[in-house]
Amino acid sequence: MGWSLRTLPTLSLEQFAQWCKLLEERTGMQLVPQHKALLESQISTRMRELGFDDYDRYYQQVTDGVAGKLEWTIIIDRIAVKETGFFRHRASIEYVRGFLQKKINNQALTQSFDAWSIGCATGEEAYSLAMVINDCFELAALNPYYGITAFDLSVSALATARKGRYAKRKVEAVKADEFKRYTKQLTDGSYEIASRLRERVCFTQANIINHNNLPNVKVDVIFCQNLLVYFRRWLRRDILNALVDHLKPGGILITGLGEVVEWDHPKMQRVVVEDVQVYVRE
Ligand SMILES: C[S@@+](CC[C@H](N)C(=O)[O-])C[C@H]1O[C@@H](n2cnc3c(N)ncnc32)[C@H](O)[C@@H]1O
Repeated sequence: MGWSLRTLPTLSLEQFAQWCKLLEERTGMQLVPQHKALLESQISTRMRELGFDDYDRYYQQVTDGVAGKLEWTIIIDRIAVKETGFFRHRASIEYVRGFLQKKINNQALTQSFDAWSIGCATGEEAYSLAMVINDCFELAALNPYYGITAFDLSVSALATARKGRYAKRKVEAVKADEFKRYTKQLTDGSYEIASRLRERVCFTQANIINHNNLPNVKVDVIFCQNLLVYFRRWLRRDILNALVDHLKPGGILITGLGEVVEWDHPKMQRVVVEDVQVYVRE
């Protein structure tokens, strides 16, 4: 029987625990028992591609030397949950619009407006931010003086993000006027994000648990949704504390609703607003 047809044995509980440990150590992501089937299917598919029939040997391959590092980037791409969407949580994105509009109205925008999207997956979040930020500049007839840096662990997700091309079902959450101004239909039926937005967004690989390696700059907005939820509470706090140092005074940090509980920081104030979890730096 050929490799592709042979059925691999089940990933044992010990092997699952070993993978969970590795994943958490390297990415912060915590798997739960319900993830076992998904993990097993991703690993076994990759093993078949490489001609492995033994989970322990493959584990060894992933954790060994330079070849292991390369293999790790491939397998982590497949394991990481990359679910995302345009305006996935519209209220949070709209909060950024209000924040910037207020700055423009108060003539408080003295330098470029900078935002980060952390755990950006295939880029929809970063482009949604670009749409509302660009709107504000266009409405005020100002030169668009802004930049968005979007980070993710997954090389393949970042490659998709950089292309800025999405299937029709993906862009359906974009409102009609945004859709008209910021997307263009291609001959293959997919939609491309307008170049004036794409050139404002820089996608870069980063592992947020190594937050000391983040660029040494300060930004107006840090958007971090549906990522911290996979981490242990102490790690969430550790990352949030590090992010505070990357905010300009008055800058805001937006997380997913309920993703952060019992986090206090002497420089940060929770803003009381319905349906958005936002903190402002003093
Ligand atoms: C569920 S997606 C969320 C995407 C987007 N923020 C949203 O809310 O729609 C989580 C993303 O975080 C990335 N990720 C997971 N662990 C990470 C880490 N340690 N550093 C950077 N990115 C990470 C994954 O690759 C994935 O693309």
